[in-house]
Amino acid sequence: MVKVDVKGCCGFVDGAKYQEYVGKALQAFDTLVAGNGAGNDFLGWKHLPSETPESLVAECEAVRDCWNAKGVDLVVAIGIGGSYLGAKCAVEALSHNFAKQLARKDAPEVVFAGNNLSEEYLAELMDLCAERNVACIVISKSGTTTEPAVAFRIVKQYIEDTYGKKDAAERIVAITDAKKGALKTLSTQEGYKTFVVPDNVGGRFSVLTPVGMLPIVVGGFDMRAILAGALEAEKALAVKSEENPAIVYAAMRNLLYKEYGKKVEILVNYNPKFTYLAEWWKQLYGESEGKDGVGIFPASVNNTADLHSMGQFIQEGDRVMFETVVHVEKSTRSVVIGSDEQNLDQLNYLAGKHVEHCNHMAELGTVIAHEDGGVPQMQVSVEKVDAFNLGSLFYFFEFACGVSAYTLGVNPFNQPGVEAYKKNMFALLEKPGYEEATKAIKARL
Ligand code: PA5
Repeated sequence: MVKVDVKGCCGFVDGAKYQEYVGKALQAFDTLVAGNGAGNDFLGWKHLPSETPESLVAECEAVRDCWNAKGVDLVVAIGIGGSYLGAKCAVEALSHNFAKQLARKDAPEVVFAGNNLSEEYLAELMDLCAERNVACIVISKSGTTTEPAVAFRIVKQYIEDTYGKKDAAERIVAITDAKKGALKTLSTQEGYKTFVVPDNVGGRFSVLTPVGMLPIVVGGFDMRAILAGALEAEKALAVKSEENPAIVYAAMRNLLYKEYGKKVEILVNYNPKFTYLAEWWKQLYGESEGKDGVGIFPASVNNTADLHSMGQFIQEGDRVMFETVVHVEKSTRSVVIGSDEQNLDQLNYLAGKHVEHCNHMAELGTVIAHEDGGVPQMQVSVEKVDAFNLGSLFYFFEFACGVSAYTLGVNPFNQPGVEAYKKNMFALLEKPGYEEATKAIKARL
């Protein structure tokens, strides 16, 4: 189970104040559990681990088996924000670091599109498709988001032109609202298999729904283990206690922000497989908490690489941040540093040591250095990088986000600020219905 350790914050905060914020977090916990807070029509994610039927995973596996029978070796997963980052995080965390170079063929490669509007990206995606046997998952809860819609139009046309309309309908699966949205209408008309994004689950809380599940399953990863890890976290975090890791995390981050001016939280990881865990976490916390003029800015670094870039700022720059270190207790692979007779590189003092030991010492040394430099340190730890622990992390960060946002006093489940750029983009693209906005924005150019 995920553990949270806040002793690296103790030198920065007053003990009585911490207890005050634990009290606030416990109240927020009650609100989240009772389901009587702001945005309470979006709490469906709370019981996904315990309530997801086995048949849903089996349905995803049936898609995987159908595509495997067709020889599909490339799945293009189209989506943005919460319709993308959970699956991307799982694929990155659970893949071999060099899966592409090794060209392992035990499962199709899952690539992502619809999360940008880069013309090069889409042109180069078409270059890749031309060399591969392609299927597509298109994901949009609203069914109207521009970035995935543009990518899907291009990929859909490619698949239809290449495989014919009938086969294309078997190579495309849509994940969207049960009833409404352009993607739902299109899928019904084209006869695509569809999965539903539950009404009461928002995008950034949807990794355990078909939104995350289908790309994970078709990519050959163990969704059942992810759900098992999430279930363990669901049970553990349901216990109301001052030691509940979600309470500890929510209390400390709100205390650091509100009482000590720590406006930036840096999620620190020491394993390249968790690079996209940080991206997923940034969306979860940024979109859930950054509103009404408040919120902790979520940032991330990937160490040890970033110790040679951002490390300088974190050690000595403006003291606005605290760090949350994702600690992985043990490596799943073993590499021991050998000894060398000549010792020209002067590394014999490490001979016989595991690389993971060096990584842990780099982490510990950094934690102490940053603490000395005035940066409070929290630690979120898991046993290892695998599907079970990833599931636990998904659920832990979601639940803690709900508790933390209620402690902060905002609705975790809306994102009204996202509309501002969309309105301007539609006006500039001269979308029908935006004529007045087009005139107004053009006058400003
Ligand atoms: O968390 C959210 O709600 C957002 O990030 C959405 O997931 C994102 O905007 C994509 O929306 P949709 O799935 O409707 O295309």
